[in-house]
Amino acid sequence: MSVRRRLSGLVALTMLASSSMAGAAGSLTEAIVREAFATATPEEWRDRLAQDDAQALCSQHRNQPPPEVAAQILESQRATVRLPEDGRLMGDWRAGEKLAGIGTGGHIGRIQPDPPGRAKGGNCYACHVMAPGEVAAGNIGPTLTGYGRLRGNTPEMQRYTYEKIHNAQAFFPCSHMPRFGHNGWLSPKEIADLVAFLLDPESSVNAGR
Ligand code: HEC
Repeated sequence: MSVRRRLSGLVALTMLASSSMAGAAGSLTEAIVREAFATATPEEWRDRLAQDDAQALCSQHRNQPPPEVAAQILESQRATVRLPEDGRLMGDWRAGEKLAGIGTGGHIGRIQPDPPGRAKGGNCYACHVMAPGEVAAGNIGPTLTGYGRLRGNTPEMQRYTYEKIHNAQAFFPCSHMPRFGHNGWLSPKEIADLVAFLLDPESSVNAGR
């Protein structure tokens, strides 16, 4: 697709969206995304690019679902939450610290696809300030510096933090935060390490390093 056609596609997309023809805009978006990721394998397409029901509802309502749809998303996402089989919600904060800073893994497309086996990280710093010593952090999400110092690490707080990382939309429909456990991106052990990174009093998130 030429740049000009792509641009006119986007203009048409905006017009369609504003005239609330969500279905037509949806298929036009899909055509443009398919063109952009033409080298994606069927599995990559299914994992990364096809929307599940919750995502489709969020797109349909531009991430601002009316209360009844928000409740429906919340219910379906809460039903997906799984706690780790060994019951350990808090792991090794140093492993969690490392994982939070890894931004590689799973890149697809023509420009810089990740080779198979490249470490898959949480990439949490893309959106959150965490340990204050890390110089580059995004602000799409709230700052998490001092998270455990401020909230304590009671069993309830461990459970909330674990579930939140497992599936952010079990608490906040249409959150921009990826659903790390739900999508199988991070393992239960890795999520527990991130819980420790956020809650352990010794961790750099809480000890101010
Ligand atoms: C693409 C952006 C993005 C990424 C990446 C991301 N988050 Fe978030 N996160 C958010 C947003 C936005 C919120 C606030 C909305 C919500 O609660 O879902 C949030 C909320 C949270 C909360 C709840 C905070 C509270 O006050 O209760 C926790 C905990 C959290 N994120 C942890 C993490 C961890 C750990 C990672 C990495 C594994 C991560 N996030 C990666 C965007 C992101």
